[in-house]
Amino acid sequence: MRPQPDFIHEFAPGASDRTLLLLHGTGGNEHDLIPLGRELDPNAALLSPRGKILENGMPRFFRRLAEGVFDLNDLRKRTNELADFVAAAVRQYRLAADRVVAVGYSNGANIATSMLLLRPEILRAAILFRTMVPLVPDNLPDLSSVRVWIGAGDQDPIIPASEAQRLVELLRRAGAHVTIRFAHATHGLTNAEVKIARLWLEELKSSGAPG
Ligand code: MLT
Repeated sequence: MRPQPDFIHEFAPGASDRTLLLLHGTGGNEHDLIPLGRELDPNAALLSPRGKILENGMPRFFRRLAEGVFDLNDLRKRTNELADFVAAAVRQYRLAADRVVAVGYSNGANIATSMLLLRPEILRAAILFRTMVPLVPDNLPDLSSVRVWIGAGDQDPIIPASEAQRLVELLRRAGAHVTIRFAHATHGLTNAEVKIARLWLEELKSSGAPG
């Protein structure tokens, strides 16, 4: 029997064949990013799981030892678990497997990045708000058909600009098409950068790129 989607999640059908995989930050849940997803693409289906790890009662997608210091074994395990969930949800909701775009914030962006690096077949594109290098795989995947937009904050106390740049370099070495924008912001999102990400997503569609 094929596995059923086994994360608590919210699903909203869309009017197009694109699906946004919404991945919340630490302390968030499956409802948090639904308004953001609708703003980024009013026509996309939305698939929004809740992270299974609890840190002092706060949901996350993988364990960490300290802020920015990750439990890499758990990260690998949780990345595969989430990738399997997405594949099962694609079957259950009859979604287009080659039109899944991750939209992650903070911890959610970090697991999306990890999925790009460890399970590259799952995502065609990603919007990553406030992300860092979650891990460096032994072998880089071929991400030459993947497009990534990174939203960093120029005053983010959690993720220094150099860390966001390090990720850009890693993803580009894997062949991904990467755009990075620095908002005049801390770790929280600004309306202005959400608008920029929305335009990028619209252009992705009109350029005919997958996703
Ligand atoms: C993480 O743990 O993924 C990052 O430190 C971001 C956060 O969730 O605070």
